[in-house]
Amino acid sequence: MNNKSRSYFNKGWNSVAEIDIEAIKSNLQYLLSRTPPGTMQMAVVKADAYGHGDAKVALAIEAEVDWIAVYQVREGIKLRKKGITKPILVFGTPTSDNSRFYKKFKLTATVSRPEHFDLLPAGVAYHLKFDSGMGRVGFLPSELKVVQAAMKRCPQIKYQGLMTHFASSEVPGSPIFDNQIQVFNEIVKYLGSDVIVHASNSGATVHQSDVAFNMIRSGTAMYGFDPNGKFNPMLKPAMTWISKITQVRWLPAGSGVSYNHSWHMPEDGYVGIVPVGYADGFNRLLSNRVKLSVNGTDYPQVGNVTMDQVIVYLGRDSVEIGTDAIVMGGGGEQSVYNWASILNTITYEVTCKIGNRVKRVYVNE
Ligand SMILES: Cc1ncc(COP(=O)(O)O)c(C=O)c1O
Repeated sequence: MNNKSRSYFNKGWNSVAEIDIEAIKSNLQYLLSRTPPGTMQMAVVKADAYGHGDAKVALAIEAEVDWIAVYQVREGIKLRKKGITKPILVFGTPTSDNSRFYKKFKLTATVSRPEHFDLLPAGVAYHLKFDSGMGRVGFLPSELKVVQAAMKRCPQIKYQGLMTHFASSEVPGSPIFDNQIQVFNEIVKYLGSDVIVHASNSGATVHQSDVAFNMIRSGTAMYGFDPNGKFNPMLKPAMTWISKITQVRWLPAGSGVSYNHSWHMPEDGYVGIVPVGYADGFNRLLSNRVKLSVNGTDYPQVGNVTMDQVIVYLGRDSVEIGTDAIVMGGGGEQSVYNWASILNTITYEVTCKIGNRVKRVYVNE
């Protein structure tokens, strides 16, 4: 554990998530190295930078990227107030409630419905979003003429970018991806490419070739995760969640452990208490299925995960109180990939759900 992290335990925190800024920078460099020279890079820091801390991450990498992306207007406002000056694209939908903030905080809008043209205040820049096959938001290719007419009708807002989003770019040879690229290329041909054209999320940048257009738009890979769910040695997971053993107890063989006794002591031995639980993002479905690393040894988490605490089985090892326990992170047993696989979800969800009782600490800044 970094010394900086240690100081947070003295301030009453029960665990820290160390965020390795150098790892994020190295991931960004790797992603850009996969694109032709001159390609721009947009850093996606929505959802609190996938749990890594949006303002701190954005400020740390602002100089190395061309654009920042958020989902909510509120997220963009926060970044502006924290001093971010690079252009910020808001992926979310402009509404009559939030449209004034685009102008006030110099946020760039994503226009994906005809009514958005009329909502945005004069002077606001926008990127057009097309649905090339994602089936979520965006104009359909059949709406091209409607879009062109609206653009002509609304010269008070500034057309600056053209984008689409991929549904399965992390799968090489995916027919869904191939079809989307074909559709998007047609749209670009029709509207022209004299604006910033961008489509590639992490999956496309890592697993497809020649699809960078003018700019890549990476989220998860910048935090060190391959969207295909398999460890990728070229990407460094940036987050390590660390807590401590706060109690060590001896229990006799056969003792039931935690709520509903889903686990029993196989023999007399020690258990350790680690003060993190499902309220912090340690999903209860992980009960009896993961290991925490203590002094370099992987010890099984046993019994049901509770709101604030988990229990590790130490066997005959009596560990000193205050010893670090690596809860999640890295590329081994505790990896986010491993958690996601056990939870039958994606790495994105795991890091997003690490809660605000876990202090984010920035290392290698
Ligand atoms: C429009 C858009 N672009 C880019 C991204 C980044 O995707 P990823 O984290 O897979 O790189 C997202 C994330 O969901 C998105 O919604």
